[in-house]
Amino acid sequence: MKLTGEKIYLKEGLVEENYPRLLRWFHDLEIMGYIGWVKKGLALKDVSELKAYIAELEDGIIFGVYDYADKFIGYTSLSDFVGKEECEFGIFILDKNYWGKGIGLEITNLMLDYAFNDLQIKKVVLTTSEFHDHAIKLYEKVGFRKTNLIPNDRTIFHNGEWVLSGTVEMEIRNKRGQ
Ligand SMILES: CC(C)(COP(=O)(O)OP(=O)(O)OC[C@H]1O[C@@H](n2cnc3c(N)ncnc32)[C@H](O)[C@@H]1OP(=O)(O)O)[C@@H](O)C(=O)NCCC(=O)NCCS
Repeated sequence: MKLTGEKIYLKEGLVEENYPRLLRWFHDLEIMGYIGWVKKGLALKDVSELKAYIAELEDGIIFGVYDYADKFIGYTSLSDFVGKEECEFGIFILDKNYWGKGIGLEITNLMLDYAFNDLQIKKVVLTTSEFHDHAIKLYEKVGFRKTNLIPNDRTIFHNGEWVLSGTVEMEIRNKRGQ
């Protein structure tokens, strides 16, 4: 399965050569600082531990993100399916050079189209840190709305230090499924 955007394309699954890159990125606090499992990512020692961890995390559909020079820059996923009722969206643009260029927007729109039109899912949910302004702005722009804030729920790396953060829960519904 391949989903094509203007700046990037998404290819289903990860391949062997993606893993060493992922491991380096998971060890970079600037990239992974807001993720709920950042400390677990830092503790992964090698590719085999990383593979086992990703398999456990992503019980759903995972797509590698590539630019049109076929460079691997991150991944995105739909997981935790509750029948057709809902699933959870995840996005990880892990090459920092690709941030702030509208690629997050493109990936999110491609994944929502796929979830709603192809998979006929009624609702897509996600969680993020209350301090992750960049991600929240992106999610609100595509139409996610905040549904809940779980206070003091995760330890994250923010502005150069470890802090306790709330977790924001967000959702977007398939308009045709209302
Ligand atoms: C969070 C993430 C997905 C954002 O993707 P992106 O491609 O950089 O986002 P976009 O370029 O599409 O920008 C989306 C909006 O955020 C804004 N934005 C860009 N950089 C920003 C920043 N540093 N702070 C706040 N907002 C920012 C953009 O301005 C844009 O809004 P606009 O079009 O109105 O200007 C990406 O940085 C990422 O994957 N980070 C690492 C892993 C991660 O944290 N994933 C999210 C887990 S919840």
